[in-house]
Amino acid sequence: MSQSTSKGFSRREFLRGSSAAAAASSVASTAIGQDTAVAPQVVTGETSITLKINGESKTAKVEPRTTLLDMLRYQFDLTAAKPVSADGSSGASTVLVDGRPVMASSTLALSVAGKEITTCESLVDDEVPRAFVEHDAQQCGFCTPGFVVAVRAFLNQHPDATEEQILAGLNGNICRCGTYANVLQAVVSLVKGEQNG
Ligand code: FES
Repeated sequence: MSQSTSKGFSRREFLRGSSAAAAASSVASTAIGQDTAVAPQVVTGETSITLKINGESKTAKVEPRTTLLDMLRYQFDLTAAKPVSADGSSGASTVLVDGRPVMASSTLALSVAGKEITTCESLVDDEVPRAFVEHDAQQCGFCTPGFVVAVRAFLNQHPDATEEQILAGLNGNICRCGTYANVLQAVVSLVKGEQNG
C-alpha cells in the first residue's frame, strides 16, 4: 500500500523525520538542562550542621532522615514542641524558622542548616504565654507550646487582627481538649493590648 502524499512525502518518511526531530529536540533540551540545572546533592550518613537556636549558635550532627523536631528534643533537650503528628497536622510541633512558623515534625533538620530557629522555650517571658494563663487557654497543655509559637508568629504579622482573622490564622493548630474559645479570648486580649503589664 502506497503511503505517499500528493507532494511525494511518505508517512514513513514523516514518522522518521518526526523521530529525528524529537531526538534532536531532546538532545537540545538536555544540553540546555545541563547548562542550567543544579546537580542533585546526595547526602548519606551523619552530617554536621550549624544553625541558631533561640539566639545561640549551635552545631548538630544529623542524618538525612532526622527531623527538626527530633534534633531539638534529643540533641538540645528542647521538648516544648510536641511529637503529636508526624505530618504536622496537629500543629503541636510549631517552631519558627527565620521567623516563619513550620511544623518541626515534618521538617528535615538538614533543611534548616544556617537558619534561625525559635522554640517556645524562648518565649517564656513573652506576653503570649501570659495571656494563655490569664485566660485559662489550656487544659492538658499538650497543644499549648505549638499554639503559643503560632500565636506569636501570627501577631507579628497581624497585630490588629479581627476574631475571624485570628480563627483563620490559627486553624493549623488543633486542641483535643477544646480550649479554642479561651485561646481566642487570649489572642483578642493581646490585640487589644491588655497584656502589657
Ligand atoms: S489543652 Fe489539651 S490538647 Fe489543647
